[in-house]
Amino acid sequence: MIIQKTENSRISTFDPSDFSFGNTFIDHMVICEYEDGKWGDVKVVPYGPLAFTPAMMGVNYGQACFEGMKAYKDKDGQVFLFRPEKNFERINKSAARLAMPEVTEEMFLDGLKALVDLDRDWIPYGEGLSLYIRPLIFATEEALKARVANKYMFAIVATPAKSYYTEPVSVKISDHYSRAANGGVGSAKAAGNYAASFYPTQLAIEEGYEQIIWTDDATHEYFEESGTMNVFVRINDTIFTPPTSEKILDGVTRDSFIQLAKRRGIEVKVEPIPVKTVIEAQKNGTLKEVWGVGTAVVTTVFQALGYQGEKLQLPTLSDEESYAATLKNDLVNIQNNVTEDPFGWRVLVDHVMETV
Ligand SMILES: Cc1ncc(COP(=O)(O)O)c(C=O)c1O
Repeated sequence: MIIQKTENSRISTFDPSDFSFGNTFIDHMVICEYEDGKWGDVKVVPYGPLAFTPAMMGVNYGQACFEGMKAYKDKDGQVFLFRPEKNFERINKSAARLAMPEVTEEMFLDGLKALVDLDRDWIPYGEGLSLYIRPLIFATEEALKARVANKYMFAIVATPAKSYYTEPVSVKISDHYSRAANGGVGSAKAAGNYAASFYPTQLAIEEGYEQIIWTDDATHEYFEESGTMNVFVRINDTIFTPPTSEKILDGVTRDSFIQLAKRRGIEVKVEPIPVKTVIEAQKNGTLKEVWGVGTAVVTTVFQALGYQGEKLQLPTLSDEESYAATLKNDLVNIQNNVTEDPFGWRVLVDHVMETV
């Protein structure tokens, strides 16, 4: 690994109590280039722009995929990653589906740890605070040819992140647009999946909703995901989430919620969720909660479901009554090293860069 430390650190300009998530970048980034069938050296370099032309294949044909993960700081200043091997596995699954080269564990995990260690001062400490990390792979070959590219870049950039707290939102159950199709790329974190979701989401926002519950493309009769999150439904005291498939992203938060719920003895059913069942449960009063889960905000609770012109309200539960709130609390306590980690999910980031 090649480490090129910045001579112009911006850390003195960073105010952990007043920063803009997604626009504030840490001092360094990881880059690694792929050419002639192999990856070159992993480099940790000062964060900044790179030179590409508009003929870069990644922006023309969309060979681009990414990951989203976080690093957390505990009260003693120790830094932890959360289940990073899951993101490593998933970026390679995404890369394979997009006919891009897979990255090695050394590039991904060692690059990640080196970056987070070097810029650990950028990780804010406190409730809801963390560092959001974005590993990505994109085609860099300069060619206007619709074929698999032969040059790529692997990069990791990161931005301090704040508050998990989000207001309950209203979501529209999609009866027309789809996020993913059978045989498509829904289970990959392909950049194009997000581009394709923006327009339907814009339409839903115009109708007074914040997000879309994506349903299956063939019939629109089954829940798949919600916005950029996996979805959970609670009917009486059982929680349901759809099985992962080639249309559903295998979310790290989803998997963690399933395990945390089982540990608490909550009944979890991983099975297709018919829209009809949810609507009926809302009408007969057995629908208790619907929520989305993902790395960025952990949980977003839904207050209303829009379906075929009707807005169906969901009950308002206290944090003690709510499974969404209880499981979120269990999860963030593990992530922030506040409680035991019975699953072995935390990965400590050692101090190694001080000596470099
Ligand atoms: C489409 C989609 N579904 C689900 C998730 C949740 O995945 P995770 O819990 O790994 O963040 C994400 C966010 O990464 C996503 O983009």
